[in-house]
Amino acid sequence: MASNKKLLILAGDGIGPEVMTQVKRVITWFEKRQGLSFSVSDGLVGGCSIDKHGVPLTDETMAEAMDADAVLLGAVGGPKWDNLPFEIKPERGLLRLRKDMELFANLRPALVFDALAEASSLKTELVEGLDIMIVRELTGGVYFGQPRGIENLPNGERRGVNTQVYTTSEIHRVARVAFELARKRGRKLCSVEKANVMESGLLWREEVTKLHGEYKDIELSHMYADNCAMQLVRQPKQFDVIVTDNLFGDLLSDCAAMLTGSLGMLPSASLGAADANGKRRALYEPVHGSAPDIAGKDLANPLACLLSLSMMLRYSFDLGKEADLLDKAAQEVVAGGFRTGDIMAPGCTKVSTTQMGDEILKALDRLA
Ligand code: NAI
Ligand code: MG
Repeated sequence: MASNKKLLILAGDGIGPEVMTQVKRVITWFEKRQGLSFSVSDGLVGGCSIDKHGVPLTDETMAEAMDADAVLLGAVGGPKWDNLPFEIKPERGLLRLRKDMELFANLRPALVFDALAEASSLKTELVEGLDIMIVRELTGGVYFGQPRGIENLPNGERRGVNTQVYTTSEIHRVARVAFELARKRGRKLCSVEKANVMESGLLWREEVTKLHGEYKDIELSHMYADNCAMQLVRQPKQFDVIVTDNLFGDLLSDCAAMLTGSLGMLPSASLGAADANGKRRALYEPVHGSAPDIAGKDLANPLACLLSLSMMLRYSFDLGKEADLLDKAAQEVVAGGFRTGDIMAPGCTKVSTTQMGDEILKALDRLA
């Protein structure tokens, strides 16, 4: 069947291919049972690409990623490639994808499954029902700004320099993504910077405030990043969507992630600019890495990758109903006590990666 939904799957290394196998079963389920149709192709990224082609991502695969409607990635890296020079390490493949696809908005949900609320480092009542979306600017800010480097000063000291830089267009495009997301969710957006001590933060605040004129239906607030870190662990449910820069987003998204208790449950999306036809480049991937300690043993939790698939359905293909169905299936399976080792709890049934996939398919059958 011809399909206008071009999907590139890059399973990668370690547990990447194991969790991706479960994702493919679910894609097939949606095709057979819900009438969706994808044209799926597979490619190599990371260590597996180094082994075959000598580079972590070939130009051909990069071109396929640019042409795809969405890219779904497993994980890259592992001890086998740890001693390679930086320029050809597995991670470089991922960095190239992010850079060439110009993925400037990184979406990191912190969603607590009720059945797992007890696994959080916070009290259950603080996190039960928690559903936050952090939008992190990903291609600008202090990680990329010029000048940068380490210099030798005439007095014999050395000086390390990094520069935080944001332009109005960089701020607008990521803030727009956040406003649009807020519109599809709880209509609340909190913009986070340090406008009190940083000019780039002051500009950020001014520009987000200006843009708010186009999104009057959204309740906008501003918060300093240090306060946001405190509020996230004090009263996380006050937030719906948070938008922030690259550096603060790096820290705050990891902090929010841990409110949910498990790395094996965390999906992410990275969105790029929309082209003339409104098609937005997008990469979906679990937050976790290749987990070499459990790779090849059918032990990995496939839910982070499955929830990344759900984000893809929702954000790249506007298939909100289907995404809700998959999210619901994941909730049910976990509530039903089926657990991989990383989220195992007393009285629950321990399942393998494959068995978790089986249970998800059964739940989808029940819910559809
Ligand atoms: P990791 O996320 O691979 O593993 C950390 C710990 O969490 C391990 O004990 C692992 O077994 C566990 N874990 C991770 N995902 C899990 C899952 N789905 N189910 C059950 N348990 C899970 O991070 P680590 O150990 O720091 O890095 C391992 C390799 O992965 C390195 O080569 C690193 O460079 C790479 N990496 C790749 C990323 C990516 O592809 N986006 C992100 C982070 C690390
Ligand atoms: Mg980080």
